Amino acid sequence: MSTKKTVKDYIRTIVDFPQEGILFRDVTTLFADARGFRMAIDQMLHPYAGQPIDKVVGLEARGFILGGAIAHQLSVGFVPVRKKGKLPGATIAQEYQLEYGDAVVEIHDDALAAGERVLLVDDLLATGGTAEAGIKLIERLGAEVVGCAFIIDLPDLGGRTRLEGLGMDVHCLCA
Ligand code: PRP
Ligand code: ADE
Repeated sequence: MSTKKTVKDYIRTIVDFPQEGILFRDVTTLFADARGFRMAIDQMLHPYAGQPIDKVVGLEARGFILGGAIAHQLSVGFVPVRKKGKLPGATIAQEYQLEYGDAVVEIHDDALAAGERVLLVDDLLATGGTAEAGIKLIERLGAEVVGCAFIIDLPDLGGRTRLEGLGMDVHCLCA
């Protein structure tokens, strides 16, 4: 009997990384596999087929890898949301809380035009703090988030509920 691998089959879990008690979902094994990576990109895009999207915004760091491939597939531009101090031009900043600590993310203040329709991309949705910070940055520039696409949802951490509470369209490939 042949069993077709799913996206989840390519992801491994590392115990106690980056600190004790965290089960870290490692997508590098998915990215390293040609079929797995293509499957993930295709499935992340599927819900948005036929919808107008002007820009893809990716969240540091694994959202850059996914967002770049998705932007290329859509023939639209890619915009990074980066951790504080990494972007060279003028930025706006947003504070947020992680599953393990506080942080600040930034976007270039001229990266999006008012009214642009944005697809937000990252590898994993945990508490939703990072994605919410990204959404706030996008909306502060006057652009609109048409969807939030992730590979993995950690439902116990409430991120999907949090983003849906903000009126977001959220799609994840697996839990
Ligand atoms: C991970 C993941 C998301 C975020 C999700 O990134 O890639 O960006 O955590 O967590 P949240 O939903 O609770 O906000 P991480 O903070 O490990 O940063 P990195 O990708 O730069 O390593
Ligand atoms: N970001 C927040 N929680 C995570 C987890 N469990 N695995 C990978 N990235 C994460």
